[in-house]
Amino acid sequence: MAPEPSPTSSAITLHINGEKHPLSVDHRTTLLDALRERLDLTGTKKGCDQGQCGACTVLVDRRRVVSCLTLAVTAQDREVTTVEGLADGDDLHPVQQAFLDLDGYQCGYCTPGQICSAIALIEEHAAGWPSAVTPDVDPDATPAPLTPDEIRERLSGNLCRCGAYVSIVRAVAHAAATHGRSPALTTEEGAA
Ligand code: FES
Ligand code: FES
Repeated sequence: MAPEPSPTSSAITLHINGEKHPLSVDHRTTLLDALRERLDLTGTKKGCDQGQCGACTVLVDRRRVVSCLTLAVTAQDREVTTVEGLADGDDLHPVQQAFLDLDGYQCGYCTPGQICSAIALIEEHAAGWPSAVTPDVDPDATPAPLTPDEIRERLSGNLCRCGAYVSIVRAVAHAAATHGRSPALTTEEGAA
C-alpha cells in the first residue's frame, strides 16, 4: 500500500555529482543539511547558517547558491554539484588546482564554498554578466577583463576568516586566465 502523503515531508530525488539520491525530507530541511546530515557529503561547510558567509556555496544547474538558504525540496530534479563532484578522478578541477598551487586557503573551512563560487563567477564573467564594479554595463561594450577588483567584488559573498584573500584572488585569476571557462561546467548549453 502506498504511504499516506504527509503535509510536512516529501519523498524527493536529489541529483548530486551525477548520482541520484532518493530521500524523504521534512519540507523545512535545507539543501545544506540534506547534504551534510543525510547524505554524508560533508565537504560543503556550515558557517553562519543564515546566508552571510558563503561557506555552504554549491552549484545548482551550474549556478551558485548558498545551500543554507535553499530548501532541499527545491533542488528536486536539478543538478547539484558540490566540492566532492568537481574533480575528474585524480585530476582536480582547474580552480581546485589553482587554489592548491597558489595557496588560496589557510584553514580551508571556507575553501569549498570559495571554489564553487569561483567556478560560477568565471562562467558568469565569460557569459558577459556585469558586476557592481564593471565600468561599462552596456551590453554592446567590449567585455571587461576579469581584473582583481572584479574577482573581489564577485567573490564578496564568500568570507575567509583567516584572511587568505590575496592568494584566493590570485588563484581565481590564474584559473580563469589559463583555463577560461571551466571544463567541468561547460556543456553545449553554455552558461546562460
Ligand atoms: S553557512 Fe550558508 S552562507 Fe553561511
Ligand atoms: S581558509 Fe580559513 S576561513 Fe578561509
